[in-house]
Amino acid sequence: MSARGTDWIPRFRALEAVRRVVLDGESLTVSLAEETEGLAAREAAWSRALAYATVRWYLRLDAMVEGMLERPLKPRDAVIRVLLCQGLAELFHFGTPDHAAVRETAELARTLQRPGAVPLVNALLRRALRERDVMGAAMNRTPSLRYACPPWLVAGIRSAFPDTWEAQLEASTLPAPMTLRVNLARSSREAMQRRLREAGHAVTEHSSGPAALVLETAVDVERLPGFSEGLLSVQDAAAQWAARLLAPRSGERVLDACAAPGGKTGHLLESANGDLQLTALDVDGARLGRVRDNLRRLGYPAAMVVGDLARPDAWWDGALFDAILLDVPCSATGVIRRHPDIKLLRSPRDIGALAHRQRQLLETAWTLLRPGGRLLYATCSLLDEENEGVVAPWLAATPGACCETLDFPGGVARPVGRSIPLGSEGMDGFYYALFTRGA
Ligand SMILES: C[S@@+](CC[C@H](N)C(=O)[O-])C[C@H]1O[C@@H](n2cnc3c(N)ncnc32)[C@H](O)[C@@H]1O
Repeated sequence: MSARGTDWIPRFRALEAVRRVVLDGESLTVSLAEETEGLAAREAAWSRALAYATVRWYLRLDAMVEGMLERPLKPRDAVIRVLLCQGLAELFHFGTPDHAAVRETAELARTLQRPGAVPLVNALLRRALRERDVMGAAMNRTPSLRYACPPWLVAGIRSAFPDTWEAQLEASTLPAPMTLRVNLARSSREAMQRRLREAGHAVTEHSSGPAALVLETAVDVERLPGFSEGLLSVQDAAAQWAARLLAPRSGERVLDACAAPGGKTGHLLESANGDLQLTALDVDGARLGRVRDNLRRLGYPAAMVVGDLARPDAWWDGALFDAILLDVPCSATGVIRRHPDIKLLRSPRDIGALAHRQRQLLETAWTLLRPGGRLLYATCSLLDEENEGVVAPWLAATPGACCETLDFPGGVARPVGRSIPLGSEGMDGFYYALFTRGA
């Protein structure tokens, strides 16, 4: 891509999106959606890919910059540091030819009204090219730099998975697959696979679930045959275990207690072809709108409730539920390959606060379950603190709660519940624990 004409715009938009994450603490999803608005589809996709590569590797790239700067940049030049990281991402993780990456990154310094930074950008990127092997080897000795993951998170993953932590960190640096879920109540995996192939999509069956298909190349979901008719949804194979483990039966009263954006709500309904009395609860009304859109597309009904699970008096009619899915808010460290900004935005302090909240939500949800009913606790976290660290002490303190043994491929048994390590059979990292309530 050349800096002439308007070709510099997608690169500049990527920079703005990354700058908002790094310097303003915004989410990459939000900043990218805003920054790519108005771009043609191909340019927007290019911008997104560059921003993702930069954020995914940011901690490593920033350490490279730090090692090469002869004197610290002034606070007003913080954006130049972000620019340098983006230039390094283009050089080492994006496939832009070296000369173009250096020239275009330097040009962006001018666009930023920092012409004085052009020589620095040129010099530093060229030096990185010359010294990449030496610098790379030195950084690879430190796991947090090798995998561009903050040390506290490396330590948490290592302590939860002493045998597979490194494979999971490796997986966290790779783009995630686009996995689909076929609505088995209305079609079959074979039929959908045929339709997708006829439409020119290369697709394979996922080993971990009867409804899961993996696209070789991610595409705009609206272009997939069967999507608008509700025959297909986008959902990682690990997340597809939620509805399978809770296994709602026709006519049951089911609470999806933290429902938005509704991936699992739709799957729960598909499991009984819509024949559930399902309440989709979420504290965030705007996010609950996405559940509504999802269910409209799938053609299944549910009661939508905006409310705080921890305060049932405000929304609950007093009738106990047969089954509850408790997909709690969490650090989302199991999905860092999809949301690499988590590595920059989360801190260890957040984890303690989340664990406290998760325990509260679990305690409340339990009171809404009928005797003999079942509750599935789920997170997309890799950290013990949010998984068995929450459920094990709760289980010990809760008479009548019985933990079911879970056994499914791609997962590993935990002291309580079962984890899916990040990257296991290509899946996101997840944690599930299923409890039944004694009569
Ligand atoms: C991990 S997400 C759920 C993902 C969803 N189950 C799915 O599969 O699409 C957690 C959700 O919990 C909601 N949440 C957080 N605190 C809550 C509370 N106190 N009561 C109800 N919902 C809550 C958040 O708004 C967020 O939408």
